[in-house]
Amino acid sequence: MRSSRFPPTGDAKKGANLFKTRCAQCHTVVESEGNKIGPNLHGLFGRKTGSVDGFSYTDANKQKGITWDEGTLYEYLENPKKYIPGTKMAFGGLKKAKDRNDLITWLREETK
Ligand code: HEC
Repeated sequence: MRSSRFPPTGDAKKGANLFKTRCAQCHTVVESEGNKIGPNLHGLFGRKTGSVDGFSYTDANKQKGITWDEGTLYEYLENPKKYIPGTKMAFGGLKKAKDRNDLITWLREETK
C-alpha cells in the first residue's frame, strides 16, 4: 500500500473537472456554502473523520477515526464502501489511480 509519502503531483485541472462531475452534486469546498447532501470539504486535510459541525454523519464515518490526508483519501476514494463499511456516501469510487491523484491534487489546494 501507499504510505503518507504519497502523492506524485497530479493534474489539478483534470481534478477540478472530476470534482465538478463526480462530487459537486453532494459536496462543496467553499466554507460559506455549508453542508449539502455530504459534509462541507473546506479544511479537509488534517481533519479527523466525521468532524464537520452540523452534519449528520453515520456512526461508521464518525468512528473511522483516521485523519484525512493524501494517503487516506487515495484509499477511501477508490472504494468508499470498502474503506468505511456502512457509510451513506452513495459513490462507487474512482477506480483509476490517475483520477484519484488528479482529484486529490486539486482538493489539497481548494480545500485550504
Ligand atoms: C451522492 C452524494 C455524494 C457524492 C456523489 C459524493 N459524496 Fe462524499 N459524502 C457524501 C455523504 C452523504 C457523506 C457522509 C457519509 C456518512 O456519514 O456515512 C460523504 C462523506 C465524504 C467524506 C468524509 C468527510 C468527513 O468529514 O469525514 C469525504 C472526504 C468525501 N465524502 C469526499 C467525496 C469526494 C471527493 C467525492 C467525489 C469523488 C464525493 N465525496 C462524492 C455524499 C456524497
